[in-house]
Amino acid sequence: PTLTIHVNGQQYIWRYDYPGAQQLFSYNEMVVPTDTTVVLKIEASDVIHSWWIPKFGPKADAVPGHVNDTWFKVPAGREGVYRGQCAELCGPNHADMRAMVRAVKPDEFEAWARIKRAQIKAAGEEVAKSRKEREKAGAVD
Ligand code: CUA
Repeated sequence: PTLTIHVNGQQYIWRYDYPGAQQLFSYNEMVVPTDTTVVLKIEASDVIHSWWIPKFGPKADAVPGHVNDTWFKVPAGREGVYRGQCAELCGPNHADMRAMVRAVKPDEFEAWARIKRAQIKAAGEEVAKSRKEREKAGAVD
């Protein structure tokens, strides 16, 4: 199986967008299933960053307006947290821009994704609801 994740570097955080009809994204910690080819589409929204988890191989530059491809696969039985660091000097807080992948069993990944999608949906509905209430109250946004 293959999972494609869009990685976006921004001062000083990584955002990960997952595929699917219902929105799923996370910041800083990328959660992936083991025994799955994870394809990364890497981009940046401000300056050049560099995605690097040493155990997964070479650095991949994150460049505004350009998509860089890389991939990795964590074998079954190698669940755990894999850490890295932005590898391109991107500003004063560059050193705080950590990269992190948490590899879990495929069924645990599905459970994580289900919960996270539901949380994102609920948060979106909450924002829409309070916006509507403010409009009703005549508040200026
Ligand atoms: Cu981003 Cu260094």
